[in-house]
Formats: sequence, structure tokens, C-alpha cells
Amino acid sequence: MTLPAPRPAVADPARSQALRAASEFAADVRAGLTRAPQKELPSKYLYDEVGSALFEVITVLPEYGVTRSEERLLTRYAAEIVEALPSDVKVAELGSGSGRKTRRILEALCRKRPTSYCPIEISRSALQLCRRELADIERISIVGYERDYLAGLSEVSRQRKPGEQLFVLFLGSTIGNFARLAATRFLRDIRAMLRPGDTLLLGTDLVKPVDTLIAAYDDAIGATAAFNLNLLARINRELDANFDLHDFEHVARFNPDVRSIEMHLRAKRDVRAEVNAAGLSVEIGAGETIWTESSHKYHADEIPAIAADAGFRCARQWVEKEWGFAESLLEVK
Ligand code: AVI
Repeated sequence: MTLPAPRPAVADPARSQALRAASEFAADVRAGLTRAPQKELPSKYLYDEVGSALFEVITVLPEYGVTRSEERLLTRYAAEIVEALPSDVKVAELGSGSGRKTRRILEALCRKRPTSYCPIEISRSALQLCRRELADIERISIVGYERDYLAGLSEVSRQRKPGEQLFVLFLGSTIGNFARLAATRFLRDIRAMLRPGDTLLLGTDLVKPVDTLIAAYDDAIGATAAFNLNLLARINRELDANFDLHDFEHVARFNPDVRSIEMHLRAKRDVRAEVNAAGLSVEIGAGETIWTESSHKYHADEIPAIAADAGFRCARQWVEKEWGFAESLLEVK
């Protein structure tokens, strides 16, 4: 009797991508929770499905003026921004979130000509939300990229048609979540994927009184606290860990040296926890913190120098004074 030949293993790209992401998450958690003297977790892990939904809540909190301020700017100046662009642009957005802020710009572009919009997001749920939010705009075609920012941007840049210029959106002050030097490095990385004539619209939250900032990152109903604590809940869910969330509290503090709001999770008592998928047993002393995010604040007039350092020229800038937010249009030098 002849036995059937063994079937070749079927490659499942989505599954291998998920496995890679899980092992990278485990490695980052292991590295961050064994770091001394300050334990840290990368802020990108705040955005699983629950975290992304909580962030959407944060954007409408009375204390968190960032999103509303940027929406006011984009509503007021969308036509002017679009007028300052080359005529034939393909739009790539780094971290689109729900896409709500981008609507005004896309509507203004689509009024002029059919426009292709490529949101780039590591969060699948945010990508779905964004597609739903913007699909009704006439003459838009939306192609989402579930990738990290630079991998997605390089793909979008390669796929553009001859004569098409890229218009990259990096809104919401996500640049503020990078350390200052890393922010310039990241802008240089973006620049490396662009060509002369391409543009970048960069949103930055501006320096404001410390008590306003603390309230924005430690709101009265505890939405930001839940957003922060969800990171430990996510580690429990995805990495087979056993953190008791009641052992931790959310802390927001201002670091004047770098003008940044830091989010931490502070242990209320001595904690010992297992993160089984990372092969880690961790001890956290009472009062010790895990640093989970920094949100740097800028002065509007420091943006042109940062842009120049990264290979851009700041062509235009629009500032919203009620909250304090700047939108800067950067051209490839
Ligand atoms: C996404 N990013 C710009 C937000 C910020 O303001 O830094 C994330 C955030 N963290 C707490 N509240 C909002």
C-alpha cells in the first residue's frame, strides 16, 4: 500500500505575524520589568482593543483638550492646508485612530479631486473604526495598513503612482510620546522615505500650566487611570500573568527638565507576580513605579528647528490658542 505523501506545512501569514507579535510583547515586558532602577513598559502596548476604546473616551473628556483643540484647528484651516499642498497627493496617516480628526482634511481634498487615503495603524480595531468613520466621504478610496508606522509608510511610498506626491499626517501630538531625541530621529526616518515635493502635517500639543496638564492626564472619572491599568490587565490576558490590578494606582507627574507628562503605575504594597509567557517572576516594592508613557509638550517656535534638523522646512504653522496646540506643515528640503 502506498501512503499519501506528507502534506507540506501551510504557511499562515496572519498566524505567524500574531506569534511574532506575542513573542516581541513578551520580550519587551521581560526587558522593561527587569530594568533598574526604573521599571518601564513601552507605551505602544497601551493600545489593544480595550486600550484603544479607552483612549477614544479620553479624547472627549472635559479635562483633555488636545483632540478638541486639534479638531478646531483642522476645521478652521482645512481648506488653507489643502491649498498649500501639491495638486496630486496620496494621503498616508500614521496612527489614524478613529479618523475623526482627519475628516475635514480629506473632505477638502476630495472636493478638489478623488483622493486615496492610507491609514497606518498597529491596532486592527482602530483601523476598522477609521474605515467606518470616513467611508461616506465622496470620491475617497481607503486602503488600511495594519503595520507599524515606518513599515507601513515605506509600503505606501513604494506603491504611489508616477507624479503622485505623498502627504503624510502625523496628528494628535503622538510625536510627544517619543523622547525628544527619538522624536527627531523618527522625523528623519520619515524623511528618508519621502521625495522632494512630499509634505508632512505634524500636530504638537503645546506647553501649558502644570495643573492643566496634570488634570488632563489624571481625570476625575478615572478614564486615564483605567487606560494605564489596562496595560497590566493586557499582560495578564495575553502573557498568562497574575497581576492584581488593585495593587496598583495611576500616577501622572510633570517632568520640567524635558517638559513631559509621565504616566506611571505605582505599587500600593509589595507585589510579586508571574508573567508565565515571558518566563518572568517580578518583585515590585511598595511605592515603586512602572513608567508607562511620556507625553512631551512643545513651544510652537521650536518646531521649525526640529524640522530642519530632520531634513524638512517648516512652510506654514497654525496655532490654536484656547487650549494650546500647533499644526505645522513641513516640506521635504
Ligand atoms: C496618543 N497620545 C498623543 C496621547 C497623549 O496625550 O500623549 C496618549 C494619552 N495618554 C494619556 N492620555 C492620552
